[in-house]
Amino acid sequence: MRILSGIQPSGTLHLGNYFGMMRPAIELQEKGDAYYFIADYHSMTSLFDPAERRKNVLNVALDFLACGLDPKRTVFFRQSDRPEVVELSWILSTLTPMGLLEKCHSFKDKAAKGIPVNHGLFAYPVLMAADILLYDANVVPVGRDQKQHVEVTRDIAIKFNEAYGETFVIPEPEIRAEVAVVPGIDGQKMSKSYGNAIDIFGDEKALRKTIMSIKMDSRQPAEPKADADQNLAIQLLKVIDAPVGREYEEKLRAGGLGYGDLKKKLFEVYWEHFAAARTKRAELAANLDYVNGVLKDGAARAHAVAGKVLQRARQASGLE
Ligand code: TRP
Repeated sequence: MRILSGIQPSGTLHLGNYFGMMRPAIELQEKGDAYYFIADYHSMTSLFDPAERRKNVLNVALDFLACGLDPKRTVFFRQSDRPEVVELSWILSTLTPMGLLEKCHSFKDKAAKGIPVNHGLFAYPVLMAADILLYDANVVPVGRDQKQHVEVTRDIAIKFNEAYGETFVIPEPEIRAEVAVVPGIDGQKMSKSYGNAIDIFGDEKALRKTIMSIKMDSRQPAEPKADADQNLAIQLLKVIDAPVGREYEEKLRAGGLGYGDLKKKLFEVYWEHFAAARTKRAELAANLDYVNGVLKDGAARAHAVAGKVLQRARQASGLE
C-alpha cells in the first residue's frame, strides 16, 4: 500500500498541527510505503516571499525529522525537487473541466471573500492531483478540508484512464478522524491565523508566558468545578497526556486546585512531552547538510516512481 501526503510549508509548528496532522502522519509510516513531501509549489499560490519560503521549507523538514519521521523508511522530499509533477499537472489540466475547479472551496471561499485569486490557486487541485497520481498512491491521508481535492483527483484519473487507457491508480482519501480539535489559548480552534497557538519549538520563557496567559474564570481554588471538562487547560492537558489530563480534571472537579497551579502543570507536561524532539531539532539545525541530504535522497527515490509514471502518461496520451 502506498501512502502519500503533502504538507504545506506555512510557518511554525503548533500543538494543533502536531496532534492533528504530524503525529498521525508519522504513525502511518508503519502501515505502508509512505511518500511525504513539502508542498513548496503549492505555497506559491499565496506566499510571495522567497526567503520566507526557503525558511518555511527548512522548518517543516526539521520539525518532521525532529518529531520522528524516519527518512530511511519514508520517502521524504521537497515537491519542487521533482519537477515532473508540473508536466503531469499540465497534461491533467487538459482533461479537467473548468466547472470541476469552480466548485472547489480552496478557490471559491477566497474568491467569495474578495481575496484576489490567481490562476495557480484556481489550478491548485490539478497540481495536487498530479502529486497524487505521479506516485501511484493508493491512500491519501488528509484533513477534512482536503477531501474535495482527493475527489477531484479521482475524477481526473478516471477521465484520463477512459480517454487514453488504464494509466493511473485511483486513490482513496483517508480522512483523519478528528483527533479532538485542539483548542487555542482563547478557546477557538488552534490556528496560526487566530494568533491563539502554542508552538512546539520556541523560547521557553515566551511559551511559559503564553500558557500562563490562558484566561480562567474568577472562581476560588477551593470551589469544586462541576464543569472541569470545559476548562481549556484541562482540554489541552488531555490532548498532550490523557492520564494526567483526567487526573487533573478530577482534582479540579473536586475543588482545591488553583488555576495557576493547573496552568503550571500544563506547561510542565507540555515542555517535557517535547523535550526529546527539542533536543533532536537543535542537533538537526546544527547539521543542515544532513537535512538537505535527506531531502535530496528522498527526491532521488521519488524519481524512481515519478519517472516511470510520467512516461506512462506521456505514452498513453501520444506525447511519445
Ligand atoms: N493541499 C494540501 C494542504 O493544504 C497539501 C497537499 C499538496 C497535498 N499536495 C498534496 C496533500 C497531495 C495530499 C496529497 O494540506
